[in-house]
Amino acid sequence: MSVLEVIEGDITRLDVDAIVNAANETLLGGGGVDGAIHRAAGPELREECRTLNGCDTGDAKITKGYQLTARYVIHTVGPIWHGGNDGEPALLESCYSRCLTIAQQHGLKSIAFPAISTGVYGYPKLQAAEIAVRVVTAQAWIDYVAFCCFDRATADLYRALIARSRSEEHTSELQSRETISYAVFCLKKK
Ligand code: AR6
Repeated sequence: MSVLEVIEGDITRLDVDAIVNAANETLLGGGGVDGAIHRAAGPELREECRTLNGCDTGDAKITKGYQLTARYVIHTVGPIWHGGNDGEPALLESCYSRCLTIAQQHGLKSIAFPAISTGVYGYPKLQAAEIAVRVVTAQAWIDYVAFCCFDRATADLYRALIARSRSEEHTSELQSRETISYAVFCLKKK
C-alpha cells in the first residue's frame, strides 16, 4: 500500500520525483499553481513545454523539473466546471489516472498532486477530492503520494476522505460523514 500524505503548503517546494501541474491546454503557463511552478522551475520549463504542442483536457504530459527540487513535472489539464453534466467527473478522473500512468512508465515512485481544477476552473472541492482520493487509493504500486493543499480547510477535507477510504473498518460511517461535513462547512465559511 502506498503512503498517502496530506501537505498544507506550496507544491513547488516538495522533494518528490514529480509534482503535478494543473495547467491549461496551451501548457505555456498561467496563474495559480501553474504560475507558481513555472516561476520556481525557471524559463527552461516553458521552453520544453513549447515543444509539446499543448495537451487535451483530461490528458497529461511530462517534462523535467529544472530548478525545482522535484525531478519532473507532470502537466495535466483539468476540466472547467460547467455544473457537472458536461463530462467533468470523467475528465478529472482521467487527469489523475493519466498522471499516475505516466509516473509509472517513467519508473517514478513519489508524486505530489495539487487539487486539480478547484481554483480558477471552479470544480467543487469536495467532489474533486473524492475523485482524487478514489483514483489514487486504487494504485498500490507507487510508494508515496502527497495531496498538496494550499489551505487548511482543503487539507482537512482530504484527511477526512482518506480516513474514510482507508478504514471504513476502523471509523464508523457516521463519524467519517461528520468529519467530512465539518470540513466542507469550514471550506464554505472561508
Ligand atoms: N501549491 C499548491 N497548491 C496551489 C498552489 C501552490 N503553489 N497555488 C495554488 N494552489 P488553480 P485550476 C491550489 O487555479 O483550477 C491556471 O491559470 C489552489 O488553491 O491553480 O486547475 C492554469 O494555467 C487550488 O486549490 O488550477 C489554468 O488556466 C488548486 O491549486 C487554470 O489556472 C488549483 O487551482 C487551471 O485552473
